[in-house]
Amino acid sequence: MPLRLGVLASGRGSNLQAIIDSIENKKLDATITIIVSNKSDAQALERAQQHGIKGMYLNPKSVIGESDPRKAYDQKILEVLKAHEVQLVLLAGYMKIVTSVLIEAYQWRMMNIHPSLLPSFPGLNGQQQALDAGVKISGCTVHFVTEGVDEGPIILQAAVPVHEGDSVDSLSARILEQEHRLYPQAVALFAAGRLSVEGQKTKILEPAS
Ligand code: GAR
Repeated sequence: MPLRLGVLASGRGSNLQAIIDSIENKKLDATITIIVSNKSDAQALERAQQHGIKGMYLNPKSVIGESDPRKAYDQKILEVLKAHEVQLVLLAGYMKIVTSVLIEAYQWRMMNIHPSLLPSFPGLNGQQQALDAGVKISGCTVHFVTEGVDEGPIILQAAVPVHEGDSVDSLSARILEQEHRLYPQAVALFAAGRLSVEGQKTKILEPAS
């Protein structure tokens, strides 16, 4: 049975596209059962439509007035994910901090991709932070989601050189190429049952023979 994925995305959705492509090219034995966005105009939702995948906009304002709006919003998302029998949640350019409501329900079953070699440069604008720090190598990281922003056991990383004269755009584009390669690979490892979290670390198990 293909692994059932749920994707949370806020914007362009190029990482989502990389996952869709891997599935369509039969490199990844998975199916995306739902794509949820907190932005009504997210390109990710257009991609969903183009590929016949169910997409849903959940308005963050719908929970204003709740005692804990962030948790109330995540509760709504959780209900959607459960209704679509999601087994693994992928944050793909999802620009909202997820709360314990989702993290506990999907412990070690929710991944994020970030455009730096974590734990360096978490949060917003990882590529700008790398340029500001003058590092010569940056990259991207896929990790399991925990409550700290861009923390959590690292699954895979790819290194990307920083060139003299790089702009945020040129560095981001070079990193993005690696993101698109890395994220489907991490999902494939999960689908194959090859990821095991031990303490703060993710162990990659040998393939079953
Ligand atoms: C990607 O570069 C992703 O790594 C980054 O947002 C971009 C989304 O692009 N995520 C973060 O910075 C998370 N802290 P996409 O919408 O085209 O996939």
